[in-house]
Amino acid sequence: MFDVNAIRSEFPILSKKIYGKDLVYLDNGATTQKPSCVVKKIEDNYFNVNANIHRGVHYLSMQATEAHEEARRVVQDFIHAEHAHEIIFTRGTTEGINLVASSFGEEFCSEGDEIIVTTMEHHSNIVPWQILAQRKKLNLKVVKLTDDGMLDLAHLYSLFSDKTKLLALTHVSNVLGTINPVADIIRNAHLRNIPVLVDGAQSIPHMAVDVQALDADFYLFSAHKIYGPTGIGILYGKEKWLNKLPPYQGGGEMIAQVSFEKTTFNELPFKFEAGTPDYIGSTALAEALRFVNKIGMDNITAHENELMKYAMTELQKIPGMRIFGPSLAHRSGVISFLVGDIHHYDMGMLLDKLGIAVRTGHHCAQPLMHALEVEGTVRASFSLYNTKEEIDKLAEGVERVAKMF
Ligand code: ALA
Repeated sequence: MFDVNAIRSEFPILSKKIYGKDLVYLDNGATTQKPSCVVKKIEDNYFNVNANIHRGVHYLSMQATEAHEEARRVVQDFIHAEHAHEIIFTRGTTEGINLVASSFGEEFCSEGDEIIVTTMEHHSNIVPWQILAQRKKLNLKVVKLTDDGMLDLAHLYSLFSDKTKLLALTHVSNVLGTINPVADIIRNAHLRNIPVLVDGAQSIPHMAVDVQALDADFYLFSAHKIYGPTGIGILYGKEKWLNKLPPYQGGGEMIAQVSFEKTTFNELPFKFEAGTPDYIGSTALAEALRFVNKIGMDNITAHENELMKYAMTELQKIPGMRIFGPSLAHRSGVISFLVGDIHHYDMGMLLDKLGIAVRTGHHCAQPLMHALEVEGTVRASFSLYNTKEEIDKLAEGVERVAKMF
């Protein structure tokens, strides 16, 4: 049974008052709140298991090492990766994309080659490729969108060429909520031998992900968007690619032997994990994923879809409402909107005074804002602990602000 009130009681911050009003937290696309079990896990680790991992023969170090490697297996199971060593701990989605851009670019790209991205990417899936393109004199090709905020698939496929080295795209847009048909896209890309990187930052909290069923070559996400801690994330890469990529950073942990004449590198996954790993963060992430598993991702998806349907209906009743992005069937997680000519910051600041937290601005997606011909939007983003009553408060709040202008 999905009991939203029981779930809410596990998130202490949700009972906070903001300006004397109940907090309505609808900025989950930026970061989710943390259940007690995750915070307790962090405390327990520091108080009872803390020691540097992979380095000690002593009891605590071995316990901490086992917990970190167990966390890797929890992530492996969660995304259905074939091997635990295909799971690389990073600082987050952004670092993972930078890793692939740097290492893949170094090994496989040369002057005149092409990388494809889409108009709906977050800056973190644009700028690393631009830096690579500049470094190696590559061409960046950009997939257009349809008027309803979906990928223009005909345009995407027309961009495939013998020079295409990689397609990098988001699974779910952080602005439009568009769910991209990544399995189909990957299948078509593979027919042309083009590997595909999937930014999963906005899909992992909302839907079951099976990297083997998708056949993704790389899939990335951040722990903090799925009830885990900040500062840690996951790069999944197929073994065949990760083995071929050169290391991203040098240091401890990622080496086999070091001498001034010649240094050799460690095996996967350690080759990509230079320095002391975030073994506290990894185990807290595993705890967050266990929390999700306990509730059941199918239940979470169903609850959030219900919220989304309700929110779309209620918001659309407001005069002057303009919702960006596709219809319900192709949408997950977020609703971006503008009302009349009310500036997004004004709307966000006035909603804040009612205790309602939404994100405003360009959402780190300026090329998309340019395509939509807006400077920014207001974005409400949903999570498993949100309720229809909170959607009512959002709709009432938006209407109240609209009447003030
Ligand atoms: N990428 C996060 C967002 O879309 C921060 O809000």
